[in-house]
Amino acid sequence: MINIALPKGRLGEKIYQLFEEAGYECPAVLENSRKLIFENEEKQVRYFWVKPSDVAIYVERGAADIGIAGKDILLEYKPDVYELLDLKRGICRMAVAAPKDKIIDPRKTLKVATKFVNIANDYYSSLGRDIDIIHLNGSIEIAPILNLSDVIVDIVETGKTLKENNLEVIDTIVNISARLIANKSSYKFNTECIEEMISKIKPLI
Ligand code: PRP
Repeated sequence: MINIALPKGRLGEKIYQLFEEAGYECPAVLENSRKLIFENEEKQVRYFWVKPSDVAIYVERGAADIGIAGKDILLEYKPDVYELLDLKRGICRMAVAAPKDKIIDPRKTLKVATKFVNIANDYYSSLGRDIDIIHLNGSIEIAPILNLSDVIVDIVETGKTLKENNLEVIDTIVNISARLIANKSSYKFNTECIEEMISKIKPLI
């Protein structure tokens, strides 16, 4: 039985459909219920829904053999897992944004609000820029409007949230998409099975 951690939400549903098309169906997964674990014994798969940012933890610790995590989570938490496949779903980018027409003084420590502290630190240290990180958990776009920060580092998908809050992208840090990840020892013991799965999913991406 291969245990698969799916990120709860719309992206996870799309990814499950990919697995279904590849022949690893378990239709109850998409039923509108509060159940979180589903299995199809015949296909030897067990799916479970977890918070998207927790997928990598389940996989790293072996509670799931494989899972689907955003590249943002992999860059932020650097879990000790194998990244096996870019699923080319959930495409967005990690960007720096600021209020339109904001003038940033390069001599001053930059105040950066973000959920992605490590990504922001790595990015600014690669530029040799001193920053003051403000760690927030959501609604990051508000921070520069209220002068809590100069800029934000956040995910931009359609750009609608930035636009509606009068912010603009000033730099793209990295492109993001969903990745298939595997626990290192599960992969070792189930290489054939996981590789077969990948070979069936690949043509559908
Ligand atoms: C993410 C991100 C932006 C928004 C970007 O927020 O933090 O706020 O999506 O999408 P857009 O470019 O299509 O407008 P999320 O919905 O994950 O909620 P959050 O406020 O908890 O970050």
